[in-house]
Amino acid sequence: MFELKERDGLARICELRTRHGSVTTPALLPVVNPNQLTITPRVMRERFKVQILITNSYIIKTDEALREKALSGGLHRLLDFDGPVMTDSGTFQSYVYGKVGVGHKEIVEFQRDIGSDIGTILDVFSEPDWTEEQTRKATEETLHRAEESVPLKGDMLLAGTVQGGVYPELRRECAERLSTMAFDVHPIGGVVPLLENYRFADIAEVIIASKKGLDPSRPVHLFGAGHPMMFPFAVLLGCDLFDSASYAKYAREERFMYPTGTKFLRDLHDLACDCPACSSTSVKELVAMSVAERTRTIAEHNLFTSLKELRKVRNAIHEGSIWEMVEMRARAHPALLAVLKVLKKHGEYLEGFEPVSRRGAFFYCGPESYDRPVVKMYRERFFSRYRRPGSKVLVGFEEGPKPYSRGYAGEIAKISQEVDADFLVASFFGPAPIELDELYPIAQSVIPDHLDHEVAESVRKTMERHAHTHGYPLAVMWEGDETLEFLKDVVPGKSRHDLDLLRARAVLDMQFGRGAADILDGRKVEFVKSRNTGKIRNIIIDGVHAFSMRAHDGRLTPKMEGARMLMVVLPPHAMRVIIQDEPAEFAAKGNNVFAKFVVDCDPDIRPGDSVLVVNTKGALAAVGRALMVKGEMLAFKRGIAVRVKETAED
Ligand code: GUN
Ligand code: ZN
Repeated sequence: MFELKERDGLARICELRTRHGSVTTPALLPVVNPNQLTITPRVMRERFKVQILITNSYIIKTDEALREKALSGGLHRLLDFDGPVMTDSGTFQSYVYGKVGVGHKEIVEFQRDIGSDIGTILDVFSEPDWTEEQTRKATEETLHRAEESVPLKGDMLLAGTVQGGVYPELRRECAERLSTMAFDVHPIGGVVPLLENYRFADIAEVIIASKKGLDPSRPVHLFGAGHPMMFPFAVLLGCDLFDSASYAKYAREERFMYPTGTKFLRDLHDLACDCPACSSTSVKELVAMSVAERTRTIAEHNLFTSLKELRKVRNAIHEGSIWEMVEMRARAHPALLAVLKVLKKHGEYLEGFEPVSRRGAFFYCGPESYDRPVVKMYRERFFSRYRRPGSKVLVGFEEGPKPYSRGYAGEIAKISQEVDADFLVASFFGPAPIELDELYPIAQSVIPDHLDHEVAESVRKTMERHAHTHGYPLAVMWEGDETLEFLKDVVPGKSRHDLDLLRARAVLDMQFGRGAADILDGRKVEFVKSRNTGKIRNIIIDGVHAFSMRAHDGRLTPKMEGARMLMVVLPPHAMRVIIQDEPAEFAAKGNNVFAKFVVDCDPDIRPGDSVLVVNTKGALAAVGRALMVKGEMLAFKRGIAVRVKETAED
């Protein structure tokens, strides 16, 4: 079974349970060929800390000695590995050699009988240069075999491979139909020829099309994609498992794999790698080695490097920097850079999984950073949710020191004495009202002073859109004291605004939807502030603590009283996670909400959102933080959907 632990968008850290133990994903499954052990499974386990292996049941079945050993003593004894082992079916052999002499039912039964932890159906490998018609026929055959394979799986987990070549609609349909069958893992197949030709952008398209159709609660395996160049972007798009025969295959060709590319031994001046294999040798020594020893050493380097890259990817998910990692890796090769274009194209889909804030700051890595879902999300929420405070004049500032209310404190104080104005910064993310300056990602971002040309142009266009829609009778960009002289003449007055109150209103609307700030109307609002930072800590409404404000992302956490107020002003479905009545009683006592109890939820909820947990009659049970989006809450049978923070019975 598969459980979500941490995530950043579609990228996720999960636990996959098998009969031979648990695996933390994203994980790499090194391919072990029992006829050709470049690195033995025991060494993989002990020295490389490999969690799970993959081997080919077709190779075992067609070799009499291996077959008998596997059937009598089991697969794990055959490989001398006591952790989880996945098996493949012979699909790849049939792609390489034309045909295999094994039936699709027979090979699934064989995998089950030798004790494989995860078996694979005998799917039909759909090649990228096939016509749509050809691909459709092959995909139908894969689906037919899938249907006949599921009843045979017994206790074994079974992998149903998504095929469909380079046709997004076929991929998606295949994924949807496989998702209705009782599979435990979904590999994405037919990508090896794309990988071999560095067609990473096409692979990204294939992954996205497949993910759109797949049940989000099942692990996704990218079949045959064992190059570390692939890992960051494939994980970003929601792949959980990778297998690699490449570490050994490349080693036989004297090729070193790196996250940034591949190099022949003959082209290396120095090894320049600190992995255990490279640390104990040199180019000169490698050249002098026997072929077998050289191959093994390079294979070790390749495996260390691949495993290390996946560990880095897991760290990046944990700290919220997977986008930065993908953008930085993209500089290594034009084919990776092309992936960023695909990510931009599918921005809307990716935004559907975008967390509302992250641990780490937003780092600008290049013009493509503008296309990240977080930028789109801020901009769209600003235009659809933010309401202006109501002065007649808007004063705009250029990008400046953060937080803006401090960076521009002098100017704001000076102007406010003479003019009743609202303030806003033309920020990288879009128009940033001064009162939103502490909300993620505005303050939590590191952007260079001089933007790349196309980004500056996009920012300008967004400001233009704002200029057409903001509704202020008068708006000016601040150009120093002459701007103030002008304003004093035209609209003399004095500011009526209280920044704390503006901030509370703006964050309420941005976070919970336009209208949420109405809860403050006609009420007495007070603020508890941090003595150290001066930032708002708590919002007290009519004498009760209704919201807390988080220092690191400027977002609000409702207390029960605040949640009750939101229930009144928000539309009936908004920010709600509806759960079964009995679990709602448990949630009201402080228990987390498990995904399996979720009946329905607001599709606008994003990971990290503060949500209202209600029972089927709509009664408020608790307030919590969502870890999943709607589709995931409804699909996952294990794991926490909402971490409960405040409860009705406190
Ligand atoms: N190994 C590499 N690609 C594939 C594939 O498409 N299907 C299967 N079953 N194994 C593979
Ligand atoms: Zn190395």
